Amino acid sequence: MQLIDRFFYRFRQFLFAMSATMNETDWHFVKRYLNIEELALFQKLPDFEQKHSVTVAHKIEELIHGRHDVDERKAIKLGLLHDIGKIDGHLLLFQKSFLTIIRFFLHPLYDLLAYLGEDKKARRIFRKFYIHKHHGAIGAELLEKLGEDREIVICTRLHDFPEKCDNIYMELLGKADSTY
Ligand SMILES: [Fe+2]
Ligand SMILES: [Fe+2]
Repeated sequence: MQLIDRFFYRFRQFLFAMSATMNETDWHFVKRYLNIEELALFQKLPDFEQKHSVTVAHKIEELIHGRHDVDERKAIKLGLLHDIGKIDGHLLLFQKSFLTIIRFFLHPLYDLLAYLGEDKKARRIFRKFYIHKHHGAIGAELLEKLGEDREIVICTRLHDFPEKCDNIYMELLGKADSTY
């Protein structure tokens, strides 16, 4: 995707996030797919990230409609859990937009600030950059500890680098995660 397209995609995500909040139907949907431990993690995500994950999971549901070669439950769970690594970032919406803009226009600075946040005791602002950059790997580790399905763990780890993983679940997540 061209840089500018990616930026506008993020901007659309931002506008969507501004207006979207979890409702009763969303929680009902989430509880149909997540067990108690997964739900406990999901509840730690900021509201706008929860809503994003539900939207991605619904999109995946739409994409696999009528297909018999995909485990529907696994694919939807992946949609719900792919950004779970963001729970410790505690990003507010405006902070997320700020980080996203830096990432797109000042990538070396973004990398540097994330690098400075590698240590768990690093300053909070640097930790936010680190978690933002590495949320896939962080999320995969959390899910691995829960004994999550291997494909869900791998797709979560690599979801920002879809070229590194070519299975159907990654393809579905890639499409769903980039369509709004
Ligand atoms: Fe993500
Ligand atoms: Fe996402």
